[in-house]
Amino acid sequence: MSQKKLFTEGWADYELIDAGGGKKLERWGKVITIRPEVQAYFKSEIAFEKWYKMADWEFVQKGSAGMWKPLKPTTPKEWTIGYNHLKFKLSLTKFKHVGLFPEQRTNWDFIEQHLSSADRFLNLFAYTGAASLVARHSGAETLHVDSVKQMITWAKENMDTSRLLNIKWVVDDALKFAKREEKRENKYKIVLMDPPAWGIGAKGEKWKLEEKIDELLSTAASLVQEGGFLIVNTYSPQLTYDDLKELANIYFSDQTYDLKELWMKSTSGRELYFGNLLRIKF
Ligand SMILES: C[S@@+](CC[C@H](N)C(=O)[O-])C[C@H]1O[C@@H](n2cnc3c(N)ncnc32)[C@H](O)[C@@H]1O
Repeated sequence: MSQKKLFTEGWADYELIDAGGGKKLERWGKVITIRPEVQAYFKSEIAFEKWYKMADWEFVQKGSAGMWKPLKPTTPKEWTIGYNHLKFKLSLTKFKHVGLFPEQRTNWDFIEQHLSSADRFLNLFAYTGAASLVARHSGAETLHVDSVKQMITWAKENMDTSRLLNIKWVVDDALKFAKREEKRENKYKIVLMDPPAWGIGAKGEKWKLEEKIDELLSTAASLVQEGGFLIVNTYSPQLTYDDLKELANIYFSDQTYDLKELWMKSTSGRELYFGNLLRIKF
């Protein structure tokens, strides 16, 4: 087994059942979905015929968006699943996402193990807030930054459903916010950064990860307290494992870092790649 691979796992309410033929079959609580997956370039273990008997919804890609096709008459478009003490609302979005990135579980466990009420946590590109909820549940002061207001609203719903309070919400461009925090000399025990391959700033400015990664890494690193951690996930085909390794050697040669490819094994035994994970200890 390559040292490069880190396997993240499902849990009671999430299961990667199978993958292949450019698609993945997943269970979210009681709801089963079929979604496109470019990394599933191999043959599925279970025949598609059986997939379509098992699934409730299929996402049909149309250009950069698409639509959800019901495969069973009565399945809900919105439902809730749990993870440890937390509750997440899931909903069928027009971008094949449902409101949670299950492969992030490895970071949720890391955050739970390393944060306490004396600590501060910064979640950049924070989406619906799974990691923010885990951090808040550990008692840490938690800042949640996303450039899209609807994502903050969704994260607030997850905080309420999980009976948590006092997450600090910031609607802003992650890099701009990080630079202001750098000026304020604010420090955090953990800074988590999970940028998309390309993004849109709070004022609609488009950006590409490979053009911003240097600034993002150096600025985010300046916000980590001694003994703290910077955690970075990347999915961009333009930013390979070796690119990240080179960047880690440039920016973090004085620190210890752990760089892994993130994989998940399906119940059927297929292995699916989910990008890269870099954790740096300061
Ligand atoms: C891949 S998702 C992050 C998923 C998150 N880590 C999770 O597991 O819940 C990327 C998020 O980045 C946000 N985003 C995109 N461009 C941004 C920017 N320039 N500044 C802040 N957030 C941005 C998107 O709105 C989206 O919510």
